[in-house]
Amino acid sequence: MPSPASKFTRSPESISDLEVLLDAETIARRVRELAAQISADYRGRPLRLVGILKGAWIFMADLIRHLEVEVTVDFLSFSSYGDGAQSSGIVKITKDLDQSIAGLDVLVVEDILDTGQTFEYLRGVLEAHKPRSLRVVTLLDKPSRRLRPVQADYVGFTIPDVFVVGYGLDYAQQYRNLPDVRILRFPR
Ligand code: PRP
Repeated sequence: MPSPASKFTRSPESISDLEVLLDAETIARRVRELAAQISADYRGRPLRLVGILKGAWIFMADLIRHLEVEVTVDFLSFSSYGDGAQSSGIVKITKDLDQSIAGLDVLVVEDILDTGQTFEYLRGVLEAHKPRSLRVVTLLDKPSRRLRPVQADYVGFTIPDVFVVGYGLDYAQQYRNLPDVRILRFPR
């Protein structure tokens, strides 16, 4: 049965109508800057990246290729939004870590920090594993939507309160493959 959200999805030919917020070149430049900053901060310290699926996977893949420190990776998957545009506030683990992070410098990789509910929850989960340090890098930050007192250590772009898709971010699981970040406006 199609989800209620599916009536808002668009045909491939209409994707070009979606306003570009961040083009691929701008994203690539900022990702290189973030990688340089992270490499400098963690110089000489092995780093465990923990990517939050699914949205962060494209950002993480690009970021990791510019890091100049010793890096290993793991992934976590949470569910919070379902197929809609509003946070349900429900966060549960759907894929746990494969390897221990005890005693490690851990950098969580997120695509977007929105209400902060997901990161507040996962920070508690990860801190329980006793990492040596725990920081978060997010490609996008939407501070105007924050419901929880959390902030990222590294932010790619601070954006206004618009619903964005592309470069890993979805709506109803679509649009993740767009090379840029675009604004999805909903019918009123
Ligand atoms: C998105 C994003 C963050 C979370 C942020 O995940 O990847 O994990 O929402 O929202 P919050 O700050 O309001 O909690 P989503 O649940 O859309 O899953 P996805 O990454 O699989 O698309």
